Amino acid sequence: MEHFETLLAEKRGNVGLITLNRPQALNALNSAVMRELAESLAAYDADEAVGAIVLTGSEKAFAAGADIKEMQPVSFVEAYVGDFLGGWEAVAATRKPLIAAVSGYALGGGCELAMMCDFIIASETAKFGQPEITLGIIPGMGGSQRLTRAVGKAKAMDLVLTGRMMGAEEAEKAGLVARIVAPERLLDEALEAAAKIATFSRAAVLMAKEAVNRSDELTLAEGLRQERRLFQSLFATEDQKEGMAAFVEKRKPNFGNR
Ligand code: CAA
Repeated sequence: MEHFETLLAEKRGNVGLITLNRPQALNALNSAVMRELAESLAAYDADEAVGAIVLTGSEKAFAAGADIKEMQPVSFVEAYVGDFLGGWEAVAATRKPLIAAVSGYALGGGCELAMMCDFIIASETAKFGQPEITLGIIPGMGGSQRLTRAVGKAKAMDLVLTGRMMGAEEAEKAGLVARIVAPERLLDEALEAAAKIATFSRAAVLMAKEAVNRSDELTLAEGLRQERRLFQSLFATEDQKEGMAAFVEKRKPNFGNR
C-alpha cells in the first residue's frame, strides 16, 4: 500500500495491520489520520487476500483523542457545515472484522475509535477515558452512545461527566475490553486472533459481524429474525458444506469461497 503520513499499513499474511503513527502528538486524531485511516480500511476491505484487520497505536498511546490543536480555532459554522468528525463513520462501516489493540492512552476520540472496532484487546497499561468535558466539549465520535452501550449508563455517566480515566482491569470488568494481555503480548495476541478469523469462511465472518452489530439497532424480535435469515442463507454456501463435511470426516476445513 502507498505511503501514509500519519499511519503505517502493512499486511501480515492475511491480516491487515494499521499502526497509528504520530508519536509527537500521542497519535492525536487529526483530519489526515481520519482520511488515511478511511483509505487504508477501504483498501483492506476490498483486498481479497485480507480476512481481518488490526488497528493499533504505540506502547504509550493508542490515541490521546481528537487533535486539540487542530480543533481549537474551529467555529460552529465550520464544524456544522463541514460535518466535523463525520468522516470517522467510515471506520465503523468497515465490513471485515476490525480488532483494536490498545496500549496506553485511549482517550476521547481515541477511546471512541477503539469502540468503533469490533472488539478491544488491551494491554495491562491501557487507560480509557472521555475527558472532553475538561475542554468544554462533549464526546463527538460516538462516546456518549457506544460507551453507554458497552458499559451501561452508570459508568458511562461517571466517565463522561468527570473525565476520569479507567484502567484495563476496570474496562474489562465493565465489558468494554474483550481481553487483557501483558504489554509485550499485545500485538501478537491481536494478530493471532485476526489470523484465526481470516481462516474462517469469509461470508460467515462478515455475516457474524453484521448480525452482532444489528443488536445495537434492532428490537430483539427483529434482530432474531434477521439473524435467522442470515444463518439460513449460509446454507447456500460451499463453505457450509465444506465446514460440516470436514467435521464429519475428522479433518480440517478448507474454506474456499473468499
Ligand atoms: N491533541 C493534540 N495534541 C495532543 C493531544 C491531543 N488530544 N494529546 C497529547 N498531545 C500532544 C501534547 O500537546 C504534547 O505535544 P507538545 O510536546 O508539542 O507539547 C505531546 O502530545 C505529548 O503530550 P503530553 O506532554 O501532554 O504527554 P503526557 O504524558 O504529559 O500526558 C496525556 C499524556 C494525559 C494523554 C495528555 O497528553 C492529555 O491529557 N492529552 C489530551 C487528552 C484529551 O483531552 N483528549 C480528548 C480530546 S477531545 C476529543 O477527543 C473530542 C472527541 O470526542 C472526538
